[in-house]
Amino acid sequence: MGIGDVAVELGHRVASALKTALDVDITPAEALVHPSSRAGVDYQCDVAMGLGKKLGRPPREIAAAVAEQLKAGDLIEKPEIAGPGFLNLVLRDGWLEEQAVALLDDARLGATTAETPRRIAIDYGSPNVAKEMHVGHLRSSIIGDAIARLLRFQGHEVIPHNHLGDWGTPFGMLIEHLLGADTTTEYRIGDLNSFYQAARARFDSDPAFAERSRKRVVLLQSGDEPTLELWRKLVAESTRYFEQVYDLLGIGLRPEDIYGESFYNPFLGEVLTELESAGLTEISDGAVCVFPPGFTNREGDRLPLIVRKRDGGYGYAITDLATVRYWTAERGATDLLYVVGTPQAQHFAMVFATCRQAGWLTEGLHAELVGFGTILGEDGKTMRSRAGKSVKLVDLLTEAVDRAATIVAERSELSADEQADVARAVGIGSVKYADLSSDRERDYSFDLERMLGTEGNTGVYLQYANARIQSILRKAGDAATAEVRLIAPAERDLLLTLIRFPAAVSSAGETHAPHKLCTFLYETATAFSRFYEQCPILKDDVPADVRASRLALARLTSNTLTLGLSLLGIEAPSPM
Ligand code: ARG
Repeated sequence: MGIGDVAVELGHRVASALKTALDVDITPAEALVHPSSRAGVDYQCDVAMGLGKKLGRPPREIAAAVAEQLKAGDLIEKPEIAGPGFLNLVLRDGWLEEQAVALLDDARLGATTAETPRRIAIDYGSPNVAKEMHVGHLRSSIIGDAIARLLRFQGHEVIPHNHLGDWGTPFGMLIEHLLGADTTTEYRIGDLNSFYQAARARFDSDPAFAERSRKRVVLLQSGDEPTLELWRKLVAESTRYFEQVYDLLGIGLRPEDIYGESFYNPFLGEVLTELESAGLTEISDGAVCVFPPGFTNREGDRLPLIVRKRDGGYGYAITDLATVRYWTAERGATDLLYVVGTPQAQHFAMVFATCRQAGWLTEGLHAELVGFGTILGEDGKTMRSRAGKSVKLVDLLTEAVDRAATIVAERSELSADEQADVARAVGIGSVKYADLSSDRERDYSFDLERMLGTEGNTGVYLQYANARIQSILRKAGDAATAEVRLIAPAERDLLLTLIRFPAAVSSAGETHAPHKLCTFLYETATAFSRFYEQCPILKDDVPADVRASRLALARLTSNTLTLGLSLLGIEAPSPM
């Protein structure tokens, strides 16, 4: 297995040096080793700065003591003490060169796996039955899938579950509406969307229909078979449609990952009983509520989590309580991640607080909302189509692929079929990359023009960088892995970037922040392009050993881009 994050390795060495020199115990992370942007310095160690106060000694003295005891001659040159007590660390060229060759042979590119793997249940996708998926579900699917891939790569057990909105009061009205309709024609989802609106309109205007709908909810919840039959039809039709979107997007959610709201229905009674016997419930306005501590509105009134409505029905909140209880108690999950928009932050905070009180979330179990911001239109306002309805997801994706096809056609010498494949990879990749490359909690504008830009931090830019390297490698013929020799500064800079792959993956995975991996990949592509400008590879006057060494660096770059993109769920087509 690879060395992992070089900064962490250096941190280990600094920690043992401190122990030897001053009998101080710190963790490798507390050694504060990080890449340096200063010219001529690769990594910097700031450990002496904080320790100075604690030990009552000048930081420079501490830094000198560490430098004296540091056993890292295999990795770095003799450290230098700078300014008030920083340690400047420079990696040895010889070590970097060996590392490059080792990494070419390592499918994980140096990344280690978690020492204590966790069982992580991750809720993502989670669209609603009988409604078209909207851009919010696009974000949940893309971000959730990237995080699942990253965590799996780090050696954790990841269990995706798609919290399909397939239960609750709207289904009374939808089923009643379905009864009146011509059921001989199958409902396509496009119709289901307008179907939903028609049902809604009737519900709002026709009191008799509304009454029948309410009764239908009761029938559904009590397991009336003819009602369930109709309900299954609605769910199946929607599920088929969601499958198509996941396929098009390359999202790894399968039908068996669906744990819809209905799945938790059989548990709700027990959940309520347990809450009641723990003394957590109160009747408020006829509804059964819990009031988790610390949640109040602006007036200072306590905020309720409604676990059972006045009419006896269960809702969204108790279902989420049951979800936590199921995944921790029944499935042994150690971590629960919910990839849901930040507008639901308070809901989840209240759910988690209640679960802690109820004993379903105990010490050592971790529950977290992996929240994301809103997708805005190009005008910076909430996305709406002209008719004022929310924008259909498939329409956006289709347009992205169509536009990508134009770009590909301009540049490519591939056959029409191959071009279509590349256009799909580019179009979908650009939408995914744009979503993943900004801090997920921020809102962003859905601007296809920018997403499909061939320059800057875009998916297309990275895909083209990789394809360009692949074409260089093809032209060069298949050279066996050569020795790497660093002669030009741009070669060394590129390699210094490439060895940061393990660090980028672990920080992106640990903080559930795919954008950190995106930033790293962009830095990799730009470092390669500087390298390629300054270091000719295929020109006639390049000596054979230099050419072989540069080809090895090019191949390592392509391996890095390809693996990195795949961890984001993005394809890296080789000929474009
Ligand atoms: N279906 C919900 C929506 O569209 C999202 C569900 C998120 N997951 C959960 N466990 N509540 O808003």
